[in-house]
Amino acid sequence: MSFFAVKGGRRLTGEVAVRGAKNSVLPILAATLLNAGENVIHNCTDLRDVGSAIKILEHLGCRVKREGDTLTVDSAPANRFDVPEDLMREMRSSVIFLGPMIARFGKARVFAPGGCELGPRPIDLHLDALSKLGVRIENRGGEMVCEAREMRGRDIVLRFPSVGATENVMLAATACKGTTRIINAAREPEIADLQSFLLKTGASVCGGGKSEITVTGGRTDKRAEHTVLPDRIEAATYLCAAAACGGKIRLLNTEPEHLGMIVSELSEAGCEISSDKDSVTVERSGVLRAMPRISTMPYPGFPTDAQAQLMAAACVAQGTTVFCENIFENRFRHVPELIRMGADIRVSGNTAIVGGVKSLHGASVKCTDLRGGAALVIAAMAAEGESVINDVYHIDRGYEHMEKAYASLGAMIERKEA
Ligand code: UD1
Repeated sequence: MSFFAVKGGRRLTGEVAVRGAKNSVLPILAATLLNAGENVIHNCTDLRDVGSAIKILEHLGCRVKREGDTLTVDSAPANRFDVPEDLMREMRSSVIFLGPMIARFGKARVFAPGGCELGPRPIDLHLDALSKLGVRIENRGGEMVCEAREMRGRDIVLRFPSVGATENVMLAATACKGTTRIINAAREPEIADLQSFLLKTGASVCGGGKSEITVTGGRTDKRAEHTVLPDRIEAATYLCAAAACGGKIRLLNTEPEHLGMIVSELSEAGCEISSDKDSVTVERSGVLRAMPRISTMPYPGFPTDAQAQLMAAACVAQGTTVFCENIFENRFRHVPELIRMGADIRVSGNTAIVGGVKSLHGASVKCTDLRGGAALVIAAMAAEGESVINDVYHIDRGYEHMEKAYASLGAMIERKEA
C-alpha cells in the first residue's frame, strides 16, 4: 500500500503543467461507444478512474490502446451492454456508460451505484429522464435492466443540474427520434467538452455549457479525434497549495476562464494571481487572510471538488473562514484528519467553521476520499515537521503522480510502499 512521506515548511516555486480533466475523460470515453468505430482521445491522464473506464470499454468488447497520453478506442467490436457489479463499485461514475449503451444497443444493464464516501449517490434523475425518453427500466435486485423500443426526443427538466444526469441524457438523446431539450442542465465546462466530442462523431448538439441543451437524434458514425480540456480541479488544487505554503508557482496548460471562483477567493485571501491565455501564476508572499463564506454550488459557483483543498489553506490563514457544503452530504471527512495536524475546525451539519492557526504540525493521517486526500497533502506541505499520508490510492483516482508535481515545485514529498 502506498503512502506519502512529507516534510513540511517549504515554499513552492516553479512551473507545473496541468493534465487532462478526469471529469471530461470519463464521459468522453463512454461516448466512444456511439460511433462503432475509431476514436482518438488526446490528453488522457493515466489515472485510476481512467483505468476503470478502460476496463469497462474492454469488457463491452472495445479495443483500447494507450500511447503516452493518447487513447485510441475502437468501439466497432463492442457487443455487450452490461457493466458488472465489481466495475460499478470500482468507479461510481461508471453509470455514465448507461446513456451510450442505450443509444448504441437499445439496451443496457448496470448496477445502482449505492452509497459512496461522499454520501448517498442516487441516480433517480438519470433514470427519470431516460424513462421519459422511452427507456423501460426495471430494478432486478439492484441491477437496473434497461430497454428502449422506440426513443423519442422531448423536453427534460432536471430538478437539479446534475452533471452525470445531463451527460447521460445528452448521450442517450443522440439516438432519439426528434429533438430533446435539457432544461436546467449542468453548466460545467466538462459538459461543453463532451459536446465538442459529440459534434465530431456527427451528432447534432448545441447549448453544452449553458443551462439549456438541445440534441437532435441522428447518425453518430464519424471517426472522432479530440483533445480533453485541462483539469480545473487539479489546477485549483495547486493554487490552494501555493496559497497554503507560500511562494510563487505558474500553472501551464490551464484554462483560466474555468478557475473564476477559486481565483476570486484566493485573491481575497491575499494571493496575487495573474493569467494569460493558457497559464495562471499565483504568488503568496504576505500573510494569508481568512475568506468570506465559501458556499459550494453547481458551476459557475464554487466547486465542491475544491472545497477540501481550500479548507486546508484556510487552516493556516489569519481569521475564521466558514465553509458551507451544498452538493454532497458527507464531504467533511477530511476534517478529523486536518484536526490531527492541529487545525481548528468545528462542523455543524453542512457547515464547517475554520479558525486559522499560526501553524499546523506533522501527523500520521489517512485519506478518506480523493479531494480530502489532496487537502491532507496541502496541509502536510504547509505544516511544521513530518507527516505520513496513508491510503493515497484515493488520490491516485484523480491525480497522476501528484507527489512528482509537488516535488518539482520544491516540496519534500516522497511516495513509499508500506
Ligand atoms: C460530478 C463529478 C464530481 C463532482 C460532481 C459535482 C464526474 C465524473 N464527477 O459527479 O467530481 O463532485 O459532479 O460537481 O464528472 N443527485 C441526485 N440524483 C441524481 C444525480 C445526482 O440526487 O440522479 C445529487 C447527488 O447526490 C449530489 C448532487 O446531485 O448531491 C450532485 O451530483 P451530480 O452533479 O450528479 O454529480 P456527479 O455527476 O455524480
